[in-house]
Amino acid sequence: MLAGLTAPLAAVSTRSGDRLNAQIAVAITSASIVLHRPRLIVQIYRTNFTHDLIAASGVLAVNFLSDAQLPLIWELGMRSGRDADKFETLAYSTAATGSPLIHGSFGFLDCRVVNAMDGGDMTAFLVEVIAARTNGGERMNWRDARPRLPQRWADEWDRKIAGEIDVSLETMGEIDPSPWLERTQSRQPRR
Ligand SMILES: Cc1cc2nc3c(=O)[nH]c(=O)nc-3n(C[C@H](O)[C@H](O)[C@H](O)COP(=O)(O)O)c2cc1C
Repeated sequence: MLAGLTAPLAAVSTRSGDRLNAQIAVAITSASIVLHRPRLIVQIYRTNFTHDLIAASGVLAVNFLSDAQLPLIWELGMRSGRDADKFETLAYSTAATGSPLIHGSFGFLDCRVVNAMDGGDMTAFLVEVIAARTNGGERMNWRDARPRLPQRWADEWDRKIAGEIDVSLETMGEIDPSPWLERTQSRQPRR
């Protein structure tokens, strides 16, 4: 039943200072009924480098992937920005918040974090949409993309997710109930 509750594949990108990064995410939900004040909830695992940058900057962009961007599943979803500069070879432009917008995407939502909830292993960021654009084409869904992955990527994904489930089992009970804005604003000013 839970398998159907995922968004189309997206690259969640962000910038903190001059460091850029992006990761693949499907745990993204619409969170506003007011059409001219759109909001989303974006769930990001705390072990991800993207998480550190979003927590520091308070900004992110959701780049929904187009059907032609299959290689980004490997580039952004199976490697960490801690080990490589993912934007070294990626064409992008810069959003109003400073987040990178990946060229060739189906469309993007440029967002600012307004609050967040600690889930232990992940943070659910409530974000407001500052700007949006669709470029056309077809979106990519995980259900369609999964069978198109080269065997090596599929094997790597199975290995990676098994390790992450172990980390989640250890950390998902460790929830800090204090408000996220209080915690981050006392540490670092938001852009
Ligand atoms: C199909 C797919 C869906 C994913 N969905 C999410 C997600 O919703 N949230 C999340 O935090 N990570 C998700 N990931 C995992 C991150 O993209 C992955 O751990 C990435 O390597 C993190 O990179 P970073 O350390 O540079 O931030 C997904 C990966 C794939 C391949």
